Amino acid sequence: MPKYVLTRAGGNLGGAAASYALDIAKPDDEIVLTTSDVDGISAVTLKDWIRKGARVCFASYDDAESLRSVFVGAEAVTLISTWLLGEGRRCQARTVIDAAKQCGVKRICYTSFVGAGMQAEREEDVPFLPRDHRVIEAYIYESGLEYNIQRNYLYIDNIPVLFGPSWKICNDRWLSNSHGKAGAYVAREDCGRVLASLLLGRGQPNTVYDVTGPEAITDERIFEWVCSQSGYQGQFVSMTDEGLKKFWLDRGLPSVNSGNSSNLPMKLCIEDLLCCGEMVAKGYMRNTSNAVEELTGQPAIAFQVALLKYRGIFPQP
Ligand SMILES: NC(=O)c1ccc[n+]([C@@H]2O[C@H](COP(=O)([O-])OP(=O)(O)OC[C@H]3O[C@@H](n4cnc5c(N)ncnc54)[C@H](OP(=O)(O)O)[C@@H]3O)[C@@H](O)[C@H]2O)c1
Repeated sequence: MPKYVLTRAGGNLGGAAASYALDIAKPDDEIVLTTSDVDGISAVTLKDWIRKGARVCFASYDDAESLRSVFVGAEAVTLISTWLLGEGRRCQARTVIDAAKQCGVKRICYTSFVGAGMQAEREEDVPFLPRDHRVIEAYIYESGLEYNIQRNYLYIDNIPVLFGPSWKICNDRWLSNSHGKAGAYVAREDCGRVLASLLLGRGQPNTVYDVTGPEAITDERIFEWVCSQSGYQGQFVSMTDEGLKKFWLDRGLPSVNSGNSSNLPMKLCIEDLLCCGEMVAKGYMRNTSNAVEELTGQPAIAFQVALLKYRGIFPQP
């Protein structure tokens, strides 16, 4: 009875992965779903997971003992990158990788990010967002654990959730630094399904997958489509990196993650925000892959379909 441990099942990506893992698991697979906040899982979800045969327990990336207690005897475990940036995130990842190694886990499945595989002499030469992922991937390779790594492209979900709310504040404009280039944004749900497939052994051992949407699209095209859905009369404005940085600095956005964005007009720090545009502008996301279809049997979700579930939060006229 192979045991698979899906950590962070309470998050967006982890939740999608949990649901898909329970759909595709074989009858004798043991699925353990962990969360750092068992009380935060809705009663309906918890009931559904248990009905489908999962065991649900507490584990936190900040608590090595909690991880070891669930990793013992596991064939494979997941490591979903956290929201912390820099040393905090790297430290959490090391805790998970070390715990997996100490427990004799065979394989680790990590959700990395596009660009993490780039060669660079100095860390500063790597764009801001893939930096931590590059270091964490290196730690996985050094660990000697078998691995599956998925390098997710930027989620299409970021646009309504993180960027959309700022358009009103910017006088009904999307201020973008992607410089007219196209990127193959991916649905976060597809990333979750890919993770579940990898966890349950549907990938090739020691393989890295780029997880992309089905086509490269410009931010302007996405913006026009969102406006066409709600009737919102917005303007798409292309800006330089410096211009965009100054705009947001003047409005109090912190340069690096302050840990609390609840009072801010934009839920990203400046480095994060600028790098989203940079990843598209510099062509990191121009190519598509067939990883979603190869690993899940379903084509990658089109951006319009992925965005429809956010219709209720599209900016309104
Ligand atoms: N590619 C992109 O465009 C993009 C954009 C944004 C973020 N990301 C990355 O993708 C990751 C997944 O995104 P998401 O939307 O699924 O994140 P999310 O749901 O917003 O993440 C929140 C979850 O993090 C988990 N968590 C918090 N503290 C934890 C701890 N100490 N130990 C273990 N888990 C902890 C919790 O899961 P439990 O309740 O299960 O513990 C919580 O529900 C993010 O963390 C970030 O690294 C990528």
